[in-house]
This record gives sequence, structure tokens and C-alpha cells, in this order.
Amino acid sequence: MENAGTYIARVCNPSTCVIISDSNVFPLYGNILADALKSSGYQVYTFVFSAGETSKNAKTYIEILEFLASKKITRSDLLIALGGGVVGDITGFAAATYLRGIPYVQIPTTLLAMVDSSVGGKTAIDLQAGKNLVGAFYQPKVVLCDLRALDSLSPAVFQDGCAEVIKYGMLYDPILFDHLAEHNVNFSREYVIARCVELKADVVCHDEFDRGERQKLNLGHTIGHGIESASSYRISHGQAVAAGMAIITKAACSIGECDFTVYQLLCRVLEHFCLPCSTDYSSDTLFESALSDKKRSGKTVNLIIPREVGNCIIMPTPINRVHSIIEAGL
Ligand code: GLY
Repeated sequence: MENAGTYIARVCNPSTCVIISDSNVFPLYGNILADALKSSGYQVYTFVFSAGETSKNAKTYIEILEFLASKKITRSDLLIALGGGVVGDITGFAAATYLRGIPYVQIPTTLLAMVDSSVGGKTAIDLQAGKNLVGAFYQPKVVLCDLRALDSLSPAVFQDGCAEVIKYGMLYDPILFDHLAEHNVNFSREYVIARCVELKADVVCHDEFDRGERQKLNLGHTIGHGIESASSYRISHGQAVAAGMAIITKAACSIGECDFTVYQLLCRVLEHFCLPCSTDYSSDTLFESALSDKKRSGKTVNLIIPREVGNCIIMPTPINRVHSIIEAGL
């Protein structure tokens, strides 16, 4: 965080930086970052909004744009997202659209944002009809992860990010998966975060616009989104994705794509991270939300099906088969 100005100078040359953050994160790190930027010679403005997913909406988005305009921010200036996924998503979308695009930097402060949402340029706000329904693919100039930010996370928020970390192991890397199985929450943060970012960056370099390989990052998410929305978001994203991964892995076993020992191993790791392997919601409820999945195309949904640890496939599945697959995983 203290060296942010130096990293930024390597990738762009703004005169003004606008830190966009929320009411939880700004009091912790806002002044450290602002002082660092000022001592690197940048003029600094800050915009802070109420923490929480409910702020990731059109109202906050327009307030950010109006703030930028009132400060006469130009395309040669820079936005900095300081916070978790909500801050990153809305700041990225403001950057993608203000003056038809100005540069931005991500400084993620949660594990989930470090390993997933800050990397790859997916930006968005929510609509009444659902999460992330308006957005753009727009890449940050740089992503800066300061691991000390993790020390201020509650165990529940840290666990949320662990679900995504386990996802990367399941998708691509048995060595990463074994490390997590062996060390549980005491995993090496530097190794694990760097590896997840490396894996994600590689995927995004090959499929920036989510037309193929990038869809694998959706492992556990089709069912997970169903669990989240059925609970009116009382169940967190990480908990829902964890259960979603386990359910789809069990389903993969039942259709002969995966060995049952893989499902048992995944459940053991999830349990060690105090993450769930199942849900009480019915297949009808989960199927309903699968129909509104962004990965749906026409009459098929692209399900991400584990075959073994480190090897998952994209399986375009006719809608009328999705219900029975979900049922098999419950
Ligand atoms: N969070 C999944 C992706 O960026 O594609």
C-alpha cells in the first residue's frame, strides 16, 4: 500500500488519482494510500460509499460519475478501487464508462477480490432483477495485492475467499489443491494468492470475453448463485459456491464423469475450511435460478463438470437435463 505510487508510475502517468472505497475499508487503509500517493506527487480525491452489496447500484454509480465530473477528472487521470469485490466492480464500471473510459487500478483488500474479482476486468453493477446485470469487460492497469489487508478480515469473509481458492485447485492445479488440503486456513498466503492470480490471468489472456475457457471459472457458481438468491443473499457467495462445487461434483459422479473419491476429497477439504458441501434448497429452486444464469445460451446451460482434481470440462447441457443433474447432486 505504501508503495502504490511507485507501482502506478510504472503503468501510467496521471496527475490526479481518485480513490474510490467503502465505509469499512477507507477508515483502515484510505489515509495510508492517500499519503503514499501524495508523496509520489499525485493530487488525490476520495469518494467513499456505504459498504455492502446494496450499494452496488445505479444510484452509487451515478454519484461516482457526478463526483468525477465535479472534480474535472480527465482521461489522463486515474481511478483507484480500494476494497473488496463491490468496490472493484463499481469502480471498474465507472472507469469503463466515464468519458468513454479512463484508466483504473485495483487494490483488493479481501481474499476473494485478490484471487478472483480484481483480476480479469469484469466490472458491473446490480439491477433489481439480479446481480451484475450491467457491466463491461474493462481491464485495470495493474492489480496491487497487499497481503497485510487480509489481517483485518473477519474469519467469515476470509473463508468466503477460500471457496474461490479451492475452486482454482479443483479447476487447474492438484499441487495447489494438495497444499490447501494439507494446511487448511493456514495455507501460505503468498504462494496461494500468487498462484491463483497467475492461473486466472492465464485464462483471461486466452478468453477475455468469457466465450470459452473463462467459463470454467464458473465452477460451482450456477448452483451457487441459486443458493445465494434463494436465501436472499443471507448465504454468502463463498458458502454458496462451496456447496455448488460439491453438488455439481456429486452430480458429475452420478453421470459417470467423475470418481466418487474426488467428491469425498473435495468435501473433506471444504469441511476443513468450515465451508458447506450441501444445501437444503430443492432442485426446483436451484433449477429456477439456473435458467437465469449468464452462461446460458439459448436452450442450453454450460455446466462446469469436474472429472478429477485439476481437470474440469465445460458441458453444454440442454435445459431439460439440468434439473435431473442438479437433483443427482443433492
Ligand atoms: N469471476 C469469474 C471471472 O472473472 O470470469
